[in-house]
Amino acid sequence: MNFGIDAVRFYTPGFSLDHSLLAAHRQIDPEKFIVGLGQTQMSILPPDEDIVSMAANAAAPLVKEAKDSIRLFLFATESGVDQSKAAGLWVHHLLGLNPSCRVVELKQACYSATCALHLATSYLHTHPSEKVLLIASDEARYGLNTPGEPTQGCGAVAMVLSASPRLLSIEPHQGVFAEHTMDFFRPNYMREAIVDGKFSTKLYLQTLSHCWQEYVKLSSLQFSDHSRFCYHLPFTKMAEKAHERLCRIAQVPFDPHQIESSLIYSRLTGNVYAAALYVGLSSLLENEEQDLTGKRIGFFSYGSGCVGEFFSGIVQQGYRRALYALDHKELLKSRKSLNYEEYASFFSHRLPEDGSEYTTPVISKGPFRLLGIKNHERLYGP
Ligand code: COA
Repeated sequence: MNFGIDAVRFYTPGFSLDHSLLAAHRQIDPEKFIVGLGQTQMSILPPDEDIVSMAANAAAPLVKEAKDSIRLFLFATESGVDQSKAAGLWVHHLLGLNPSCRVVELKQACYSATCALHLATSYLHTHPSEKVLLIASDEARYGLNTPGEPTQGCGAVAMVLSASPRLLSIEPHQGVFAEHTMDFFRPNYMREAIVDGKFSTKLYLQTLSHCWQEYVKLSSLQFSDHSRFCYHLPFTKMAEKAHERLCRIAQVPFDPHQIESSLIYSRLTGNVYAAALYVGLSSLLENEEQDLTGKRIGFFSYGSGCVGEFFSGIVQQGYRRALYALDHKELLKSRKSLNYEEYASFFSHRLPEDGSEYTTPVISKGPFRLLGIKNHERLYGP
């Protein structure tokens, strides 16, 4: 029996900023963002959304049929809204999930969803009749007029994991690497990450090399055994750099076709941290013209600080019937383009931190929104 991803659906809020507009405002050549970073738009979080509402919006249609069989729900994020309570508990309530369910939150920068994926597939070996819900939800914030600004974004990916999955079976060998580094971190008292972007890019590529070498040793697979590759996407140019590096290590010519379908959605959402690799998977499966049935996909997951992992999966027969391609394309197409002032106002919005009662303005179409705060308690609803 094989185990893996049965369904994947993502959500990103209904507001975006064009990189050409941001470049004009910052008096920078737009080609730096569009060609140099490979980004054309980024999703912007409105004041009445956060990781919880985005997660519920991503997962709602997925869990309809799986509710009773989900007894493990893993929530991966680095934008936590509480130091103690798992964000997943609000989602568990909003979606009316089975009370007989374990709910936990996992953190390690952009890597945590990958660890959650492997925890889930191991769990399914002993609980093959159950399903696992895995949601990665994040807002990438670097600050106005910082080098990281054009690599911001927000969104959530929800995945149902099961035995005999419809989309992708996860293979048993992984190459992993961990090292204490301070390339990117966010102390509890800060809303924006402290990042040394150039150092982080260098670590990403070094970690890829370590992980790949271990993966090849353990799996006995070679580069040519893989049809397509998905990389963690802080910005899409990073995947190009990563794939070039991997091709150099494997001594094969660089072929952009092996990654380009995985970059389409991320170019429009921007970085979604823990969810980014899986937005890439969604983009690949939904935009690749060639039938990928039976093909092996290589994945590289990287979380600053840092942990990396290279793993693989096999695309399942009939996978196209289980995709949410129309939903995703409509979602991205229907976003409202913000002007600079609207973007800056959304970005600067702050919720009260003194326990005072607050009702958020109705901006998001949801269906789930952050309604407000009362006695320090976050309130959500449709
Ligand atoms: N036309 C085309 N390309 C241009 C250009 C122009 N007019 N001007 C600059 N570029 C290219 C640069 O050559 C560079 O490409 P290269 O890296 O292939 O050489 C790219 O655009 C970015 O320019 P750079 O000057 O390096 O940008 P920056 O110093 O403003 O910052 C990051 C870029 C990625 C470091 C920054 O956005 C960041 O810190 N992001 C957040 C952290 C992150 O994403 N980390 C990645 C690992 S997870």
